[in-house]
Amino acid sequence: MKFRHLLLGVAAAALVFAAAAQQPIVIKFSHVVAKDTPKGKASEFFAKRAGELTGGKVKVEVYANSTLYKDKEEMEALQIGAVQMLAPSLAKFGPLGVKEFEVFDLPFIFDNSAELEKVTQGPVGKSLFAKLEPKGIKGLAYWDNGFKSFSANKPLKSPDDFKGLKMRIQSSKVLEAQMRALGAIPQVMAFSEVYQALQTGVVDGTENPHSNLYTQKMHEVQKYVTLTDHGYLGYAVITNKKFWDALPADVRGQLEQAMKEATTYANKIAKEENDGALEKVKASGKTQIYIPTAQERMALKKVLVKVHKEMESRIGKEMIQEVYKETGFDPAKL
Ligand code: LMR
Repeated sequence: MKFRHLLLGVAAAALVFAAAAQQPIVIKFSHVVAKDTPKGKASEFFAKRAGELTGGKVKVEVYANSTLYKDKEEMEALQIGAVQMLAPSLAKFGPLGVKEFEVFDLPFIFDNSAELEKVTQGPVGKSLFAKLEPKGIKGLAYWDNGFKSFSANKPLKSPDDFKGLKMRIQSSKVLEAQMRALGAIPQVMAFSEVYQALQTGVVDGTENPHSNLYTQKMHEVQKYVTLTDHGYLGYAVITNKKFWDALPADVRGQLEQAMKEATTYANKIAKEENDGALEKVKASGKTQIYIPTAQERMALKKVLVKVHKEMESRIGKEMIQEVYKETGFDPAKL
């Protein structure tokens, strides 16, 4: 009789093992923007390719629009392994202790995405990812979004127009300095809370690429949008390092390929997504779009570029100089 029980036990264990062996590896990918945005679409693209290239061994579950975690929570969730992948804005790594990422927040430091890609794909991008590893985080890719416009419930044409305005920002000391340079009052706030804060007047204005402005319906509660392109917003796709290193080597290689393809896709669609969103904002008639004159934009640039020097102690003069070298930016030429 005992032998029979033993056989039954072994058979049951084998079944459990076989079932476990068939269970896919689940990657929870959490982010805070709408699905219909560059990051939203790129995360879905990655999920699809990851499933295809691993032959179903990996299942990526994308949780969009802060449905699983919102800003600050998501980074903590990644570090404890409650989620496996994020793509936070480059402006949100200061609280993690990697403040050098805020070099990307310096106003007017990039003229276009090509200059940006030289930095993310070069030594600066690599050195920043290396700084994440002691935090238990592995950087996988940089995904583009775009350049930011300011919005508020009053016209923003000259630096003086910002005086006294409560302006929502991401959790970045560089962005705080940017708003203070304009005489505005910076208010760090989770992305998921911005629409309501604008609607109720908790804050007067903010800054965003047009895909975020539109998909969060901020244009419905902001009377004016000024197309300044004064600063950049992009992403670092990151994973929990322990999780990533423990993956079977073949699966990790297939996921790297899926990420490579998703990055190409993300960077290809970013500009068209933002241009399309701006057209929809214009068509809505809900807000007034203002294009600053060359003189007005230069006046804004002259005020904001002073933040570069002010932030040397936080970001590192060498890091800023390295970016200048890659992009050819020279503040002395202003
Ligand atoms: C923001 O908080 O404004 C952005 O980082 C949101 C995003 O992920 O694009």
